[in-house]
Amino acid sequence: MGSTVLTGIGSLVTNDPALGEGPLGLLTGAALVLDGERIAWAGPADRAPAADEAHDLGGRAVIPGFVDSHSHLVFAGDRTAEFNARMSGRSYSAGGIRTTVAATRAASDTALAGNLARHLREALAQGTTTFETKSGYGLSVEQEARALRLAAEQTEEVTFLGAHIVPPEFAEDPAGYVALVTGEMLTACAPYARWVDVFCERGAFDGEQARAILTAGMAAGLTPRVHANQLSYGPGVQLAVELGAASADHCTHLTDADVDALAQGSTVATLLPGAEFSTRAEWPDARRLLDAGATVALSTDCNPGSSYTSSMPFCLALAVRDMGMTPDEALWSATAGGAAALRRTDIGRLAPGARADLAVLDAPSHVHLVYRPGVPLVSEVWRRGVPVA
Ligand code: NIG
Ligand code: FE
Repeated sequence: MGSTVLTGIGSLVTNDPALGEGPLGLLTGAALVLDGERIAWAGPADRAPAADEAHDLGGRAVIPGFVDSHSHLVFAGDRTAEFNARMSGRSYSAGGIRTTVAATRAASDTALAGNLARHLREALAQGTTTFETKSGYGLSVEQEARALRLAAEQTEEVTFLGAHIVPPEFAEDPAGYVALVTGEMLTACAPYARWVDVFCERGAFDGEQARAILTAGMAAGLTPRVHANQLSYGPGVQLAVELGAASADHCTHLTDADVDALAQGSTVATLLPGAEFSTRAEWPDARRLLDAGATVALSTDCNPGSSYTSSMPFCLALAVRDMGMTPDEALWSATAGGAAALRRTDIGRLAPGARADLAVLDAPSHVHLVYRPGVPLVSEVWRRGVPVA
């Protein structure tokens, strides 16, 4: 695989302040040189070094591929009826997860892998080049291990979420389920996963149970991330920061102490506006977190219950319209922010040495992703230096 120079880039987001203007390291009239899987050079077009091949982008914008650091894509079935009921006034509850658990348990490996592949293709076409995905709709030793094995065949970022809810067969014995998750299930699942997650929420797992699950996961070599403070105030965010979790996800109901903890600690606040959109809930306050100095990521939370979108551009538009972010902040959070939430430095930026994962927009700048909501502007996607969509 030789080198390729991408010329005629109307505007280029590098996410490297040393290469261009502002936190996005923005360059206009730029070129990029890809060498194999990596970025070899980024800068003004008139100084671009020669390469084996040239590809003229005709003034289109280039951004780093989106890093979707939170999704739940190993599932079967859908929850249209539940969505319809919500849009007629019912509220969201974690209990709906059981519908997807039943459908997922009954599905074949082929059906689950096919469904996952379809959603990953859909996301890729919308500019997402890195996807995290979780188990959590199996909730038995065999089913959780199967979900993670299938996920690991299609993505490098896999999260063990055996503690999504207590399954029906343990309804009378939640402590027994926590013992299973931290024991036999963890042993069977840890080899396939990089991360351990828990849904810390009323109706799911409380602070004490979440701590037991996360610390057991850490002892098995996994790094924690937490579904925290989604439906109500609670201990999730503080626990995430205390344990040095990579990310606290949702962060919809935050006290001042929660915001301070996120600002002081190393845990990224991952906001998932698709969930508030699809559950008609109040929006997380991105502005408050950013002003306090927290690192904010944006992701889809793509799942059949609370947020059935694979579209990062849609999430950017919501975050700007309703969560107080600027288009530049939203773009950063959906790329470099997602990389930070996955503790990755090789993705989420287009600087020498980074992976050549990028999206070409049918627009002169990244702002159009938000300025023209709902318009499919992603016209080319390159992953590891190769055009893939
Ligand atoms: O992140 N909050 C917990 N889990 C998912 C929803 C899962 C579902 O409703 O199926 C979420 O929103
Ligand atoms: Fe989630």
